[in-house]
Amino acid sequence: MNSALLPSPSETPAASRPARWLRKDLLGIQELTAEEISLVLDTARQFRRVGTREVKKVPALQGRTLVNLFVEPSTRTRTSFELAAARLSADIVNISASASSLTKGETLKDTARNLEALHADILVLRHSSAGAAQFLADRLEASVINGGDGAHEHPTQALLDTFTIREKKGRVAGLHVVIVGDILFSRVARSDIHALTKLGARVTLVGPSTLVPRVFERLGVEVRHDLDAVLPEADVFNLLRIQHERQRKEYFPSLGEYTALFGLTKARAARLRPDCLIMHPGPINRGVEIDSEVADSARSVILDQVANGLAVRMAVLYLCAGAGARQQAVAS
Ligand code: CP
Repeated sequence: MNSALLPSPSETPAASRPARWLRKDLLGIQELTAEEISLVLDTARQFRRVGTREVKKVPALQGRTLVNLFVEPSTRTRTSFELAAARLSADIVNISASASSLTKGETLKDTARNLEALHADILVLRHSSAGAAQFLADRLEASVINGGDGAHEHPTQALLDTFTIREKKGRVAGLHVVIVGDILFSRVARSDIHALTKLGARVTLVGPSTLVPRVFERLGVEVRHDLDAVLPEADVFNLLRIQHERQRKEYFPSLGEYTALFGLTKARAARLRPDCLIMHPGPINRGVEIDSEVADSARSVILDQVANGLAVRMAVLYLCAGAGARQQAVAS
């Protein structure tokens, strides 16, 4: 990256100045250290200030091109990557699978290599297959950012979740975070588990045994199946959507029964600690995993999560593009 195009020192996040971020790609949280996670969060905090200024742009990625390649639907992730790249002054191209030559049988690899031939510097990929982002990162010089790959990882969601917890609670270490619902099919749950445990939180997973099997205990978390027993113990309550699109058979008798046993109803919300944060990555199934009024209540930080996603994604783009440029400079 041309250092002349970077923000001035006063615009450059202090925490990101040391060259401690060496990854051109962000593929998952599992491979990150606690220090790397904290670096992204610290950088995001600096970038959030940019959003409060009259001119909400810095020139960090001027002259560089970001391609949003979304092979699965998205509202929050795609839009916030687009806005994040715009605030960093990058050129942006959005591609959806249905309007691309993927529908004509072109492979993902060929699609990505053609985009790279058109000078894409950063590719944000959402795909239904676990490992798709890694597959491209191994084959491209461009930075690859995982925007969610199957049931594997959704790293920027975990970073914005962790950022939101840290901003609201002042810390992550020592907090008890309860994640409820469809853990088996959730890339958000996997990334959250890695981020939260690396930063020292206690994590409890709750849901039916079909969707929250005990094998998850290997990730250093507790597994419980009685939601009502956990309610008064949580500092943070993170609810997940039932992912009908990934489930190949019924994992519980009915949505009504799921809500009766695992939904955050008004009665259950009343048993949470007064300062317990209520989180959800979205999209919400109102009336299924969370009561509609509870989702909109004062303790809900669901829209704060979305807003924080912008600063977090600015930080990720800034750090990965910088590392990618340094690697290309060394190679040339
Ligand atoms: N949380 C999340 O990934 O939302 P989208 O599917 O709308 O991007």
